[in-house]
Amino acid sequence: MKIALVGGTGNIGKGLAVRWASKHDVLIGSRLEEKAKTCVLEYSKHAGTTRLVGCSNESAVEQADVVVLCVPFEYVTTTIESVRHVIEGKCVISPVVPMRVSSNRAEYTPPEEGSAALLVRTILPESASLASAFHTVPAKGLVNPEGGYDVVVCGEEEAKKVAFELAIDANLRPFDGGPLENSPLVESLTPLLINLGIYNNLKNVSIKFLYDDIGR
Ligand SMILES: NC(=O)c1ccc[n+]([C@@H]2O[C@H](COP(=O)([O-])OP(=O)(O)OC[C@H]3O[C@@H](n4cnc5c(N)ncnc54)[C@H](OP(=O)(O)O)[C@@H]3O)[C@@H](O)[C@H]2O)c1
Repeated sequence: MKIALVGGTGNIGKGLAVRWASKHDVLIGSRLEEKAKTCVLEYSKHAGTTRLVGCSNESAVEQADVVVLCVPFEYVTTTIESVRHVIEGKCVISPVVPMRVSSNRAEYTPPEEGSAALLVRTILPESASLASAFHTVPAKGLVNPEGGYDVVVCGEEEAKKVAFELAIDANLRPFDGGPLENSPLVESLTPLLINLGIYNNLKNVSIKFLYDDIGR
């Protein structure tokens, strides 16, 4: 698959790029092409592969089959608007969490639509398929290929299928969280995990679900 990481020069972009670059062509997008190219040099050392390319956000989206929105919530609207003309018909994945973090507390701060993904749905063209995933994986933990975290995927069927496949290829365990309307439940787990890190002095707190198979 060709994967565009829009704003892939940041924390989650690096983590996802390193996990996917052995199996997929990963296009690191940026507002500044040179910045993306510099990041590719660094990421390639961690990934041990040359299947990474640095380019503008627009060029990354244009070439990709799937687009991952790796920008902070406050820039997601303007970022999508800047690539909207080339995103028609693509699968889009949002790991975006609307939240405020101070030194001693993280708080979920959803938009009036209810979640970042529900807001993104209103901005994307109808022809794009949207899934909400990867909110609870800590970017720094992704750089270590051993970290096998769980992820909950919500959204529309086509994009959800792609997000499942990409989660498995990143050594993560995906769970179906239902439709996009459930995305507030998943996004709001991230400030909880950050708070657990703050109050218990822990790093890279994530989730693993426990269940028994009886009745399956
Ligand atoms: N960090 C994590 O552990 C983690 C985990 C799960 C989900 N997430 C979610 O993933 C998203 C990205 O998080 P992050 O920590 O990777 O963010 P980040 O490192 O702070 O920023 C990511 C990229 O956003 C772009 N950006 C910055 N200011 C911008 C602006 N004004 N307009 C457009 N783009 C701008 C930058 O790319 P260029 O300067 O190259 O354009 C930057 O490298 C967030 O929505 C977050 O909630 C993060």
